[in-house]
Amino acid sequence: MRIAMIGSGYVGLVSGTCFSEFGHDVICVDKDDSKIALLEDGVMPIYEPGLDNLVAKNVKAGRLSFTTNLKEAVKTADAVFIGVGTPSRRGDGKADLTYVYAAAEEIAEAIDGYTVVVTKSTVPVGTGQQVSDIIGKICTSDDFDVVSNPEFLREGAAIEDFMRPDRVVVGTECPRAQKVMEAIYRPLSLIQTPILFTSRESSELIKYAGNAFLATKITFINEMADLCEKVGADVHDVARGIGLDGRIGRKFLHPGPGFGGSCFPKDTRALYQTSAEHDAPSRIVEAVIDINEARKPKMADKVIQMLGGDIKGRKIAILGLTFKPNTDDMRESPSLDIIAKLQESGADIHAYDPEGAKEAKELLSDVTFCENAYTPLENADAVVIITEWNEFRALDLDRVKSLLNQPVMVDLRNIYEPEEMEAQGFQYMCVGRPTPSQISKG
Ligand code: UGA
Repeated sequence: MRIAMIGSGYVGLVSGTCFSEFGHDVICVDKDDSKIALLEDGVMPIYEPGLDNLVAKNVKAGRLSFTTNLKEAVKTADAVFIGVGTPSRRGDGKADLTYVYAAAEEIAEAIDGYTVVVTKSTVPVGTGQQVSDIIGKICTSDDFDVVSNPEFLREGAAIEDFMRPDRVVVGTECPRAQKVMEAIYRPLSLIQTPILFTSRESSELIKYAGNAFLATKITFINEMADLCEKVGADVHDVARGIGLDGRIGRKFLHPGPGFGGSCFPKDTRALYQTSAEHDAPSRIVEAVIDINEARKPKMADKVIQMLGGDIKGRKIAILGLTFKPNTDDMRESPSLDIIAKLQESGADIHAYDPEGAKEAKELLSDVTFCENAYTPLENADAVVIITEWNEFRALDLDRVKSLLNQPVMVDLRNIYEPEEMEAQGFQYMCVGRPTPSQISKG
């Protein structure tokens, strides 16, 4: 199959590269010529483990190339995927579909012979129809079909998620387009991956419902963590105890500072807007959005509490800035709200993140960025772990203690054990888990 991928951002680049790994001929398109030039030089515009090697391998094999020329790429393609961004619109939180519609218009002008146009970008229910209407103004109905094929990639594990997904969802009711999609995903059918063919509308909604459900699960366990703190229970035991029930499942029950990233916050907002517009407002999704927004700055209160209520002029070390590990993505990261609140309260912030510093520097001011995990700790009054990068899981705790002014750690990802930290002499606070001294105080 010949595939054109429109948009070489996160979704487009990972999906295009993985399709070429399946054996298809893929050309990734982007308007940004500096990005295309970088990719042609083998430089990745994003940090995603394993992507650089996979790109290099497929470029070398002649199956993967990059261009700014959309027309040329579309003309010869059997399938054209739209993988452009759908950011939250300022003000109302709806998905901004400007780039999707612009891509549809350009594709329509370039189509030459029957082409399946696939929306891979996360788009609200009904967008496939709109894309079809746009293309239909220029092309005849025999020339094209519009299919929905949402992605379920997690940043940091995107290649594994693409190559070995739990399922593939395809929204089309047209047999001709279905055949093309079957051919594209044949390597996954061969390894018994469930491929769900459904209507375009159902497929579009599956993407949002899936992300909103996962965001709800996280928000639920975060609320339980707050309750655990009040009643002296351990949220890890609660999560395990409920997660072992197969109907609930163990995944996505890890408490933390609130979900962030480029997907959950944006997609929950967009789903809420869609539900309200169709007079079926999802109150659960609305509550998840509100609770999560309120949670992020609240995490700063834990730090303030640990430092006795006044952090004016205190030096605080932050470990981890990205919304999760193994990415350089800072979008809607809880660290942004937490640091803002600590700074408002007068703290002096010194931070380290293995990959996120470049993006973080654009978003944070008056922060001292350090080159390793130990430098920010020097004479700091507390260390706060915001992102669970592996390198923070095995810190030399004696060294940490000797560098800090006082051994105070706030661990917002629960990567250390409360008993062990107290035994090591730390004043330790995490999320939803009491320390032995808190238990003995009752
Ligand atoms: C998410 C979904 O997991 C993917 O399936 C989906 O394809 C993607 O959005 C998307 O729509 O493109 P991603 O945002 O990369 O992927 O990251 P997740 O691993 O899902 O984490 C999202 C946020 O939830 C992070 O801030 C993470 O720290 C938080 N989280 C996750 C928790 O606080 N607890 C958990 O148990 C799991």
